[in-house]
This record gives sequence, C-alpha cells and structure tokens, in this order.
Amino acid sequence: MATAATPVEETVETVVVEAPHPWDVSVSDIYVEDRWQPIFKEMREKAPINKVVGSAYGDYWNVTTYKEIQHIEALPDLYSSAQGITIVTDPENMPEDLNIKLPMFIAMDRPEHTEQRRVIAPAFTPSEMERMTGEVRARTAELFDTLPVGEPFDWVDRVSIELTTQMLAILFDFPWEDRRKLTEWSDWMGDVESSLTEESRREQLAHIYEAGAYFQRLWDERLEKGEAPDLISRMIHSEMRDMDQFTFMGNLMLLIVGGNDTTRNSMSACAYGLSQFPEEREKLEQNPDLIPAAVQEIIRWQTPLAHMRRTATEDHEMFGHQVKEGDSIILWYISANRDEKFFDRPDDIWLERPKPGRHLSFGYGIHRCVGARLAELQLRLLLEEMAKRRLRVNVIGEPERVSACFVHGYKKMQVELSTY
Ligand code: HEM
Repeated sequence: MATAATPVEETVETVVVEAPHPWDVSVSDIYVEDRWQPIFKEMREKAPINKVVGSAYGDYWNVTTYKEIQHIEALPDLYSSAQGITIVTDPENMPEDLNIKLPMFIAMDRPEHTEQRRVIAPAFTPSEMERMTGEVRARTAELFDTLPVGEPFDWVDRVSIELTTQMLAILFDFPWEDRRKLTEWSDWMGDVESSLTEESRREQLAHIYEAGAYFQRLWDERLEKGEAPDLISRMIHSEMRDMDQFTFMGNLMLLIVGGNDTTRNSMSACAYGLSQFPEEREKLEQNPDLIPAAVQEIIRWQTPLAHMRRTATEDHEMFGHQVKEGDSIILWYISANRDEKFFDRPDDIWLERPKPGRHLSFGYGIHRCVGARLAELQLRLLLEEMAKRRLRVNVIGEPERVSACFVHGYKKMQVELSTY
C-alpha cells in the first residue's frame, strides 16, 4: 500500500486537452525554437495540473508548479520511478529484441534503489570532490589557456562538451584518448525520440552495445588491478560486484548519461545565460565572490533536464485530481523553476537571489541527483578560471538548440572571447 495521497480534500475538475494542443509540451519544437516559456506560464496560471491525451507518447499528466512537484517527489511509493523516468513509455509495437531496458537505479524504487545508490554515493562526497578538484581545475585551466581571444568558435564543442567529457573521464579513469566516446554514447542514450521508430531504436541500441563491450573490457582489466579511487574500481570492489553484469552496465551508463548532457548544457548556459543578463555578468566580473550563487542561478535558469516522469502505483486523488494506477505523471522542472509563486523575477538570472540553491533542477527526494556536487564543482571551476583570466564570453548569434523535451540545451553556440 502506498503512502497518503496529496493534501487536497475536494475533487477538482481536471482540464483535459487533446493533442495536438499547445499544452502538449512533449513536442520538441517549442524547445528548439525557445518558445516554451509562455506555454508553461499559461498552464501555471490556468491549470497547473492538467491532462494531455493522444500525444506521441500517449496520455500524460502535466505538473507544472514547484510545491506540487516537490510534494509528488516526496511520495516515491505512490509515484514510482520503476516504469521509466522520461516521458517515453514502453513502445507498443517494437519487436522484442528492441524492447530492452538496462537496469538503472534512477528507474528503480525502494529497496533496490537505496541499495544501488549507496554504492555510488561515496564517489560524490565533499571529500571526494576535494580530491578531484586539483585535476579538474588543471584540465579546465589548460583548456582556457588554449582558447582564442577575439576569434569566433563553437563554445558547445570546445568548452562544454570537452570539459564535461574530461570530468567524466577523470571520474571513471577512462582512457583519455577515447573520452569523446562517452559523449557519443550519452547522446544516443539520452535521445528519447530514438524510441519512436524501429530504425532509430536499432541504431541507438547498436551504440549502447558498443558502450557495453567497451566497459566490459575496462571492468575485466580493473578486476585484475585491485582497489583504486575511480568509479569503476569502486563498483567492482563493492556489493555491486555480486550483482549481475547487466546491472553494473546499466548503472555505469546511468552515470555517463546523468553527468553528460546535464553538465554540458549548464556550461553552455554559463555563456548564453550570462550574455542574456549583461548587468549581472558585469556584477560577477567585478565580484568573483558571487560565483557560487551564479552556479546555482545558471543551473536553475537553464534546467538541463526539462522533466522527470513518475507512474501512479494506485488510484488516488492528486491535489484533487482523479489519477488512475499506471498514469504517467510528468514533473516539469523547467516550469517549476520559473514558478512565480515560488521565485521572484523567475525568468531572470539574478545573482543576489535569496537562497539561490532552492531550485528543482536536481530533482527532490530520494532520487535527487547524486552527482550534483560534481556538476557544481565543474561549473565553479569554469567560472573561477575565466575570472582569473578576466575572460568574457560574447555569444554571437542565436545558438542551435537541442530538439527534445527531456534534455534542455544547446547543440552549437558561436562565441567570441574578450577580456575586461
Ligand atoms: C539524478 C539532474 C549532473 C548522476 C538526477 C535527477 C535529475 C538530475 C533531475 C533525477 C532526480 C529525480 O528523479 O528526482 C542533473 C543536473 C546535472 C546533473 C541538472 C548537472 C547540472 C549529474 C552528474 C552525475 C549525475 C555530474 C554523475 C556523474 C545522476 C544519477 C542520478 C541522477 C546517478 C540518479 C539518482 C537516483 O536515482 O538516486 N540528476 N544531474 N548527475 N543524476 Fe544528475
């Protein structure tokens, strides 16, 4: 039996919209064209919880406001992660060989989730972050020393992808020369739209199998070498060793995907977001003590993962709405982070915001991002190394955005560096 339902006694009449409809926010065009903001604002005003039927991903509930999402995430027995954490539900018409799911603890409920998260969590403690700081800073500094000033280049490729990939390669002690494979695999795994056709799903799986085979080799090598601080060795020398290889692979993939697009798009937002708020950028340039606040504000403003999904485990009332067992409930962090009932000036990057870390970009509750400290560390070091060199990123032209309703970010962004 799941725990208590959400705290509204009266039944509310649910606004139900039929796709195609502007409130079907699973449609990727609104993100690629950067016009999602007024759509979510309208939902927050008129029907913060509503239902969409007949979308490309089936029927689902939109939950668009901060407190409601927080509340739902605090009830993981009633709102399960085990049926998947993106809007994609199991494809109905896919052949069996394409309907494969790697076990990942982000998509598990208690008690399995707790057991597996416990193995990973020690790799992200403050003391581990301290240990990694030297190398991450050195790599970041090295990259900034090679960037051209006054010449256009693509920030996404040269900075965001490169630094994120380096960060993950350090975490896994992954062969340095092959590190871009991490990016490639992660891009495929995070591409939720691949599941829509048989052809793209087949291609996606081919990349996942390639990654699996590569990590299998690393596992075998490390098994012989003995204990070491990298994440693969930690997993080998933990209870995960007794788990099946499939579980090990699933969790490795989770760490790559979890850390990759998210951190990458936060780094791109360091350039793009600050360029949208030049007065705040100047404040930051004049006062590097604002860097920790800037890290949080940029992560909130960008919201690198637009949503997470939960599935109702029983019929119940969700803030007065009649929800059925098995219903898909989409928690739109991208909207909650702009919730005017919770944030003053929600659309602005505002460095003096009171309590800047209170955003939902890392989720909330038992699944809250285990890698949050590492992402924050990487962003802080990026801003610090830029400040040391008095570098400003000028975004020249509109960036090319990712076409997806899950990963929220940038594909390409032309910039030119100047000094101040
Ligand atoms: C979980 C966002 C960086 C690994 C999550 C969740 C979100 C998130 C929204 C799910 C929370 C939920 O379901 O309630 C982000 C953002 C990041 C980031 C915005 C960067 C700015 C990282 C990094 C890693 C990582 C660097 C590791 C290298 C994970 C893992 C989980 C997770 C393993 C699953 C946690 C669980 O289910 O208990 N992240 N993440 N993430 N993240 Fe991150």
